[in-house]
Amino acid sequence: MSVNCLRISVTDRCNQRCVYCRPRGDGDFLARAQILRAEEILRLVRLFAECGIDRVRLTGGEPLVRRDVIPLVAGLAGADGIREVALTTNGVLLEAMAADLKAAGLSRVNVSLDSLHARSYGRITGRENLSQVLRGVRRALAVGLQPVKINAVILRRLNASQILDLAALSLDLPVIVRFIEYCPTSCRTEPAEGYMPYAEIRGIVENTFGRLTETVVVPGNGPAAYFQIDRGARDPWPGSGDLWPVARDPRHGSRGTGYGIIGFIAGRSMVFCSSCNRLRLTSDGLIKPCLYSARPYDVKALLREGASDDRIRALLRAIIAQKAGLSRLNASREDFCMRKVGG
Ligand code: GTP
Ligand code: 5AD
Ligand code: SF4
Repeated sequence: MSVNCLRISVTDRCNQRCVYCRPRGDGDFLARAQILRAEEILRLVRLFAECGIDRVRLTGGEPLVRRDVIPLVAGLAGADGIREVALTTNGVLLEAMAADLKAAGLSRVNVSLDSLHARSYGRITGRENLSQVLRGVRRALAVGLQPVKINAVILRRLNASQILDLAALSLDLPVIVRFIEYCPTSCRTEPAEGYMPYAEIRGIVENTFGRLTETVVVPGNGPAAYFQIDRGARDPWPGSGDLWPVARDPRHGSRGTGYGIIGFIAGRSMVFCSSCNRLRLTSDGLIKPCLYSARPYDVKALLREGASDDRIRALLRAIIAQKAGLSRLNASREDFCMRKVGG
């Protein structure tokens, strides 16, 4: 699998406090000087592009709380060799920023939305932002940041009862709804037993919506597997290449404007290392070849001690070459904090 995708956590700060990411009392934000500056990120991405990376995704923390995120997106979208700039957000600031993000060259967004019920949304995220996030999703669709994917981490005690409503959202709106297995981290978030395995979530969806058929028509760079709720629907994106065409025909939904496509990210019950195509750059300037890498590479130190392009490029090439033989089976599963690594 060729490594062509870089996930960049642009901040460890966030305007929510999700139970699976930030436990109570977790206030240890990085000092500003530790965070990579925009020009450092852009220099690295230029060098990464020379080593085969052609897609980047901004994550966090919450990337939209970073003040210079719009010019950063513009710089990345304009970088030679970069074909796609995407972003993962909690959606709180999306309504206000979607149009500027689109204008800056952002291709698409993934939005975290674990519940459509205000009370459980508030219990999971620690904030009463549900209606704001839903407005953000609609605005993102309206300005053409497509496809919008909805990320729902399912926790048995908090939002398992939301699975069917979330699946139905894929019929109501032209979004792709993805169910994510909760992964425990070193931040001591939810107890591990709170997680629901993919097979169980899928069973709940199929009990109501009927058998799901696998579909490969959803482009993406991550580990999700996609399925279609069967309504005799045809391929909603005929002929889509490996990048998303801009225009979509929203007339395929029988219920609303949705396509009935849902995805699963079984980061815990399945191992997808052999098809993993991405590297991670943490907000404090470490390169992680794997989400679970215990020994990341400190590229910020190189940048700040004045290393030449050649020297940094050599490191990036070595990391990419080494990743081929990497598997999380030989790394710790709980040695990281999602908001610093960027999920
Ligand atoms: P696209 O497929 O390109 O749309 O993006 P994505 O699914 O890779 O990105 P997103 O930021 O929306 O991630 C969704 C979930 O997938 C998050 O919970 C991530 O932690 C998880 N994820 C992404 N990449 C990996 C990976 O390499 N390993 C594991 N275990 N989980 C991952
Ligand atoms: N397990 C699984 N997914 C997580 N995310 C954040 N923390 C966890 C976790 N512990 C998800 C968020 C976001 C994405 C980037 O990662 O819901 O959508
Ligand atoms: Fe913030 Fe995302 Fe972590 Fe929730 S999961 S606290 S929205 S960084």
